[in-house]
Amino acid sequence: MNMLPRCGRSVIILLLALAGCRSQAARHRAGTAADPWVIGMSQCNLGEPWRVQMNADVKAAADAHPNLRVIYKDAQNNSLTQRAQVEELVEQGADLIIISPKEAAPLTKPVAEAYQRGIPVIVLDRAVQGDQYTSFIGADNVRIGREAGTWIRETLGGKGNIVELKGLMTSTPGQDRNRGFLEGLAPEANPGLKIVFSGEMQWLEPNARREMESALATSPRIDVVYAHNDPGAHGAWLAARAAGREKSMRFVGIDALPHEGQQYVAAGILDATFLYPTGGPEAIAAALTILQGGQVPKKIVLGTRLFTRANVRAGGQPIQ
Ligand code: FRU
Repeated sequence: MNMLPRCGRSVIILLLALAGCRSQAARHRAGTAADPWVIGMSQCNLGEPWRVQMNADVKAAADAHPNLRVIYKDAQNNSLTQRAQVEELVEQGADLIIISPKEAAPLTKPVAEAYQRGIPVIVLDRAVQGDQYTSFIGADNVRIGREAGTWIRETLGGKGNIVELKGLMTSTPGQDRNRGFLEGLAPEANPGLKIVFSGEMQWLEPNARREMESALATSPRIDVVYAHNDPGAHGAWLAARAAGREKSMRFVGIDALPHEGQQYVAAGILDATFLYPTGGPEAIAAALTILQGGQVPKKIVLGTRLFTRANVRAGGQPIQ
């Protein structure tokens, strides 16, 4: 059993103890204004207005707590960059990580590794695979998709041609908004409803515009465009307007930022948009609870609201 000389064993024990001390010291700050807890915020990109809003919401909530300091990382829409940034936050000794991942599969491992090293991880808006994280916070995208599908089915009276412009399908909101939409639209039960074109615009307005140009070229009649986010719906509208066809169809999006989707609805560009809350304030509230030694639910589901031309000025209506 005793293969190592006595002093060798002691050195190993000492090194292990030191390693343990170091990782403990890296976390467990006092959580005071003089020695604040450090939260690493890993954002998948800041090229989209909704993500800028998420970071602003995180900042506003965190600024109210002098015992918190937030370090921001922007992965510029690259999953490998985001993975490296999560690893960096771990190495830098963040006390807690908040991540809004670009894609589920490539970010699952770095999140799990941080979590297994004892760093609490809050996953925000887009999910990772499995359960190796502390808490997931976000709206129910299947539900939002289903509400959009139902609204479109009812508005069309069960008959019409539909274009679906999907988000990034390697991210969970893209998958969920598609699945929920098909449930709400129920085209098998409503044979008059036809999805005449579907394309993946990966959340980006210029891609949506390009996809919509193809839809317009191949479909002489389009009644509704359902885009998985407002930039996508707006890109589709731009393409339809360039073809002189925007007045013959309706446009539905998701996000409903006051200065984006809600304004498009008020301006008569979109017909409907569903609120997709950023979860920034909820993430900071959960982070504080965790850092103070409390428990948070594994999943925190945020609500949504529907904005239409009829209700946008009154602040939309909650979806019960
Ligand atoms: C921003 C965004 C939003 C969308 C969300 C889904 O990157 O595309 O428009 O609602 O991500 O995760």
